[in-house]
Amino acid sequence: MGKSEIGIGLVGSGFMGRCHANAFRSVSGLFDVQAEPRLRVLADINDEIARDAAQTLGFEQSTGDWATLVNDKGVDIVAITAPNIFHAPIAFAAIKAGKTVYCEKPLSTTAAIALEMTQAAEAAGIVTMVGFNFQRNPMIKLAREIITSGEIGEVTGFRGRHAENYMFDPNVPHSFRTDIQGGGALADIGSHIISMARYLLGPMAEVQADCRTIHPTRPKSHRTTERAAVEVDDMTHALVRFQSGVSGSLEANWAATARTMDLSWEITGTKGALAFTQERMNELAFWSGQPGRSGYTKIEAGPAHPPYGQFCPAPGHHLGFNDLKVIEVAELLAAHSGGVTCGPDFREAYEVQRTVEAMQQSHASRQWVCL
Ligand SMILES: NC(=O)c1ccc[n+]([C@@H]2O[C@H](COP(=O)([O-])OP(=O)(O)OC[C@H]3O[C@@H](n4cnc5c(N)ncnc54)[C@H](O)[C@@H]3O)[C@@H](O)[C@H]2O)c1
Repeated sequence: MGKSEIGIGLVGSGFMGRCHANAFRSVSGLFDVQAEPRLRVLADINDEIARDAAQTLGFEQSTGDWATLVNDKGVDIVAITAPNIFHAPIAFAAIKAGKTVYCEKPLSTTAAIALEMTQAAEAAGIVTMVGFNFQRNPMIKLAREIITSGEIGEVTGFRGRHAENYMFDPNVPHSFRTDIQGGGALADIGSHIISMARYLLGPMAEVQADCRTIHPTRPKSHRTTERAAVEVDDMTHALVRFQSGVSGSLEANWAATARTMDLSWEITGTKGALAFTQERMNELAFWSGQPGRSGYTKIEAGPAHPPYGQFCPAPGHHLGFNDLKVIEVAELLAAHSGGVTCGPDFREAYEVQRTVEAMQQSHASRQWVCL
């Protein structure tokens, strides 16, 4: 007997929409999923864009109206990859319709709305997942294991950064990423390093931040040279103190000239240390603290680090960014089919958004802010 099916509805077909579609298409060839994802409906901003994208990405139907997708009886999981402002209305409708909701980060435009989304999903018993895909890296899972096993001793410090260069040019126009509601480098990519820090070291207790706009104006859109003020941060630096007492620093920066994907961190302990950058995502740097062995040793990703072996039986052959999304989708499908939980869920994403807002409040007040 063939596997049963899970109907997928995808809203948005840009950078992340293509990544989600690829993951849903390939997951059952790599992971032992209980039910096969079936690409049912793709929604985008209008019928024409949706039709073209559905054809390219392999969806059976298309619509220019996301509500039609959400209420389609053949759709079991609603994947939201539209701009941030649409996450909440689509998620609320999907929760009401009893669908599993897989939403891109940041969960919403404010922590208050993110909390409402979380409470609605929890009250309805809905499976949720948010796209903090960098945590799916087997090297990150290994780092967490090393930390919790005590191999580096008691953690003494954290230094984290998510730096890219996609907004370093002042002529990159406004987009949803620069919306005053929920936009800015801190919300856009700072949310990734905050979620990573929480995954590795637990919740933060207090933060102090400095947010800076580097380019005061940008073109209003791709179609005009007319410029409008930028009201969000290009770069944020924060001091953080975790509930465990560990202190550290964190940076979000989308104008980091020359950097393409420096989601990186270093964690020191009383016995050893770990360091990572997404630019070399198949490596974890480890110092065991052994006398006479100063300097980091490279641990190379391989089948010893699940689920690397689902993709390749040989070490050193490397996973890529899109593979992280496949791992994420495999975990989502398992939770949708029942018996296991998955995360980061809406509640965890709300906590990340609350941390983003605490940093923004700290900048405004020039004070430490407790979470
Ligand atoms: N997890 C990650 O690593 C990661 C990376 C990039 C972006 N993101 C997140 O993914 C989301 C989308 O970002 P992107 O880079 O793919 O943006 P994008 O601009 O490339 O794509 C957005 C898509 O949504 C569509 N869209 C816009 N309004 C819509 C509407 N009303 N109804 C249906 N579709 C609509 C657009 O036409 C486009 O296809 C954002 O929330 C962003 O923060 C996550």
